[in-house]
Amino acid sequence: MTEGSQLIRGLEGVVAAETRLCDLDGAHGRLAYGGYDIDELARRASFEEVAHLLWYGELPKPAQLDQLVIGLTAARELPGPVVDAFRLMPADTDPMRALQAAVALLGMFDPDATDNGHAANLRKAVRLTSQIASAICAHHRVRQGQEPVRPAAGLSHAANFLYMLTGERPGAAAVKAFDASLTLYAEHELNASTFTTRTIVSTQSDMHSAVAGGVGALKGPLHGGAGEAVMRTLMEIGEPAAVESFAARAIAEKRRLMGFGHRVYRAGDPRAAILRGMAEEACRQSKQFKWFEMAVGLHERINKAKGLIPNVDFYSAPLFYSLGIPVDLFTPVIAAGRIAGWAANVIEQHDDNRLIRPRAEYVGPGRREFVAVEKR
Ligand code: ACO
Repeated sequence: MTEGSQLIRGLEGVVAAETRLCDLDGAHGRLAYGGYDIDELARRASFEEVAHLLWYGELPKPAQLDQLVIGLTAARELPGPVVDAFRLMPADTDPMRALQAAVALLGMFDPDATDNGHAANLRKAVRLTSQIASAICAHHRVRQGQEPVRPAAGLSHAANFLYMLTGERPGAAAVKAFDASLTLYAEHELNASTFTTRTIVSTQSDMHSAVAGGVGALKGPLHGGAGEAVMRTLMEIGEPAAVESFAARAIAEKRRLMGFGHRVYRAGDPRAAILRGMAEEACRQSKQFKWFEMAVGLHERINKAKGLIPNVDFYSAPLFYSLGIPVDLFTPVIAAGRIAGWAANVIEQHDDNRLIRPRAEYVGPGRREFVAVEKR
């Protein structure tokens, strides 16, 4: 790197793209997609409406929504070889690894795979959104030695996901909570996985390649993997009465607590506040209130001691658990929501592209003389 360079570790605060998708106000703890407040979208819009907003820039009119639903429903069946591939994977394959492989495979069967044009990208956004949901559920069934559940026409995206996961029709409250969760996870500006997708397509690579990369980035515990870690922490604590001693130990040991902290939000993550209400309700309904109680206890104790805020992955953990989602599917579920945003970012990047290629500050040895191997 040339003289006078400025290293910004982790690209903190660097503005690397223009976007019309998501307005993230970290100082005030506010978030909006396409101008609509996240709280209102989570309460009043379906995930399908939110996907339309992200992909087309506007909430759909009834006929547009019908058309999108038809497209999503038509794309739910997976190509046979993708399910066959799940059968070939070791039974203990991590679901995120299986999902990443599935996305790469889906690219081999997609008629628009190599077309980066706007219209083709919109078609792929629809297909991938449906297929990712189907792939998560099919892999889960296959790894348990069961047949995948065929998608059910007439069910919303959220309802069909829960149906394909369990084979049982979910209740209205579970569907609403799950649908709102997908919306809350749908988009979040230049988070690590979305930045990854943008970087990949900035080389004029394609949506499937980008999304496979996004899945890989999301998997890490500092990103989407945090939710699973939160649930494992709550399980380790075990009972509400044990929160205090756990927190005291974690603070003394300076442990990094998953589900706390955020690079951008300083005044609280608005998604966490919404998820907290949903988790309370779902834990009460499922008679597993202790998970919510423990989460609140930990939140308050850690916030008081360290000033750390809970992020989106904190209250989604007791929520997902009480909805019956297996713990190692928490991160794939986030991918099932985030695909809407990944695809929207890919479209934005392709439509107005410049190669993303930052610099690194060289800190290795100065120039030195080469010595032939036999003389070293
Ligand atoms: N537990 C304990 N301490 C923390 C935490 C935490 N979860 N988060 C930040 N800190 C402390 C750090 O120890 C550090 O303290 P120091 O300055 O005394 O060393 C300080 O806060 C700053 O931490 P950084 O890691 O530099 O902050 P950064 O902005 O890079 O990190 C991150 C953001 C990665 C999210 C961090 O807060 C973290 O690791 N959280 C836990 C993982 C997590 O929940 N990730 C999900 C994020 S949301 C999402 O991706 C969907």
